[in-house]
Amino acid sequence: MVTLEPEPVLEYGRKKESVVQKKRSKNTLIFLVLTLVGAILLLLSIHTLETLNYQFRSSLHSASTPPHLFQKHSYCVHLGQEPSPKEAQEEQNLLDSIAWPEPPPRHNPIPLQETSDPAHSKFTILPAEDWREWRVGDQLKALVNMHDFQGRIKSHGGDFLLAKLHSPELGAGVAGQVLDHRNGTYSAVFTLLWEGPARVEVTLVHPSEAVAVLLRLREQRPDRIFFKSLYRSGLLSETTTCNLCLPDNQQPVCNHTDSRTGDPWYCYKPKLLGCDKRIDHATGGYHRDLLTNTEAGLFQSNVNIKVPIRASGSDMIIVQPEKKDKAEVESNRVRAEPVRVIPSGYYFQGSWRSLGGLAMRQFNDSSAITQCLKDKVMYLYGDSTIRQWFEYLNAILSEMKEFNLHSPNKIGPFMAVDSTHNILLRYRCHGPPIRYSTAIASEMHYVANELDGLAGGADTVVVISVWAHFSTYPMKVYIRRMRQIRRAVVHLLDRAPGTLVVIRSTNLQALDPEVSLNNSDWFSLQLDTVLRAMFRGLDVLLLDAWEMTLAHQSPHDLHPPPPIVRNMIDAVLSYVCPEKI
Ligand SMILES: *[C@@H]1O[C@H](CO)[C@@H](O)[C@H](O)[C@H]1NC(C)=O
Ligand SMILES: *[C@@H]1O[C@H](CO)[C@@H](O)[C@H](O)[C@H]1NC(C)=O
Ligand SMILES: *[C@@H]1O[C@H](CO)[C@@H](O)[C@H](O)[C@H]1NC(C)=O
Ligand SMILES: *[C@@H]1O[C@H](CO)[C@@H](O)[C@H](O)[C@H]1NC(C)=O
Repeated sequence: MVTLEPEPVLEYGRKKESVVQKKRSKNTLIFLVLTLVGAILLLLSIHTLETLNYQFRSSLHSASTPPHLFQKHSYCVHLGQEPSPKEAQEEQNLLDSIAWPEPPPRHNPIPLQETSDPAHSKFTILPAEDWREWRVGDQLKALVNMHDFQGRIKSHGGDFLLAKLHSPELGAGVAGQVLDHRNGTYSAVFTLLWEGPARVEVTLVHPSEAVAVLLRLREQRPDRIFFKSLYRSGLLSETTTCNLCLPDNQQPVCNHTDSRTGDPWYCYKPKLLGCDKRIDHATGGYHRDLLTNTEAGLFQSNVNIKVPIRASGSDMIIVQPEKKDKAEVESNRVRAEPVRVIPSGYYFQGSWRSLGGLAMRQFNDSSAITQCLKDKVMYLYGDSTIRQWFEYLNAILSEMKEFNLHSPNKIGPFMAVDSTHNILLRYRCHGPPIRYSTAIASEMHYVANELDGLAGGADTVVVISVWAHFSTYPMKVYIRRMRQIRRAVVHLLDRAPGTLVVIRSTNLQALDPEVSLNNSDWFSLQLDTVLRAMFRGLDVLLLDAWEMTLAHQSPHDLHPPPPIVRNMIDAVLSYVCPEKI
């Protein structure tokens, strides 16, 4: 299990505080001196007092919540709204649908040598049926055999693999579907969609043993990223630790749970100030005491985080043109165990082509986008992966002017206007647990409440991207958040049926050992599966950011590069403004 240092090592967001932290040995002395002159300082400087209070607060925090409590106590006793029986049933079904095969139980921690090693593992492209040529429309299968560091065959499943088929020279790429046979072998299945060369790429994102660690962290260590809020009244200010749930250790808390959505949020109560004096919201820091040494071995860059698996034999095939006999091609396009429809589209010559019946248009110049968005309002809600759209559109649209709302950098809210064409573009981040430097508490709005305040209609486009800040919490937290958003979407579509609502899925990102523990693609995949299931059957457009980042040739990035953002926006605009026939 987890080894814990005597005191949790915290990293604070702001420089000022990390200096405070390092000088902890001098803290007592400084504290005494400051207390003596405190009365004078109270009159002279709010700033100094703030620091003092923060120190007081943080030493109190570590004194009163010894590290072992972080583990023993279930953090999320209060997960907000109690679900109705029907909601509880849905919750259970969703959790069942994302159940991940765990390594077989054993008494001792598994030695690293016995865990999955991409360098010793291989994949093999299986020959086409009857050994004939590959044709467009066929299905290609590769068999992946996982081995451990000693070269021995793995006998259980649960490794997190990604597969894609691509052709850099053609600007082409498509996501593959990975099937876990639960015996150390996996199939990667691809649909052949273009003529010419196609290369198979299989990547081990995490060995199964690392996924088991991530699963444990997600359900048991929701404190691994925590937050803080400043409370202030007149000259008095205090900063305390906040989170979606706080350990039940008798310390008084402020309950900042949203009264309308029931989304939970708590801060420790300031010593002197009332709970209504909360001013801001910020990331407080990280816990680093998460892994044993053995577990740390499971998260090594270039060893077992996102490492490609080599092919035995060739990793490339040449695809011939489609056979004219359509019927035969169709019969080949049978998908095994379609957990979801893969692929939802593919790249060709750098442009995304949807397979879901959406005729893609390219809006590569400012005037084409302007024409499409004329007389429209576009609301972007969520995390930074949707703020990117605001930045992209604001930059590319020549007549769009950003309205200065004096919002903090990166946080927003943001608004841009093209008054000639009557276009309004707005961005607002989702509510806590958003991880930001320092945001104003009164600007922390929940997406569901925002949607409840929209008139909607045929001239309204709403894009929602809520995922990246939820990977440190138990899955139920996300399900409950999305349930509120879904309820608001359903109401919006009821009262204003012409409204276009787009749900942007999760995407892949660059992973190192630290990012893996907070934000691994494995967490994102689980969130994504739940997200799709929850919005299935509603009249919304699902934007498959997952496949659009997997199939693209650029390296994974939490904030996908402009060519991908352009394709995403093209997809939405193609829906808003279909090709006139
Ligand atoms: C693993 O399971 C698959 C599917 O059931 C089977 O085809 C394959 O032979 C098995 N491989 C091993 C090594 O047992
Ligand atoms: C916080 O307030 C909400 C209602 O606003 C309530 O449902 C919840 O039980 C409260 N939490 C605690 C720990 O009292
Ligand atoms: C993840 O957590 C580590 C501490 O374990 C921290 O240093 C790092 O900045 C965090 N990264 C992200 C992207 O949150
Ligand atoms: C997009 O730009 C390319 C050149 O960059 C051009 O050939 C193409 O016609 C443009 N398409 C549209 C729809 O404007």
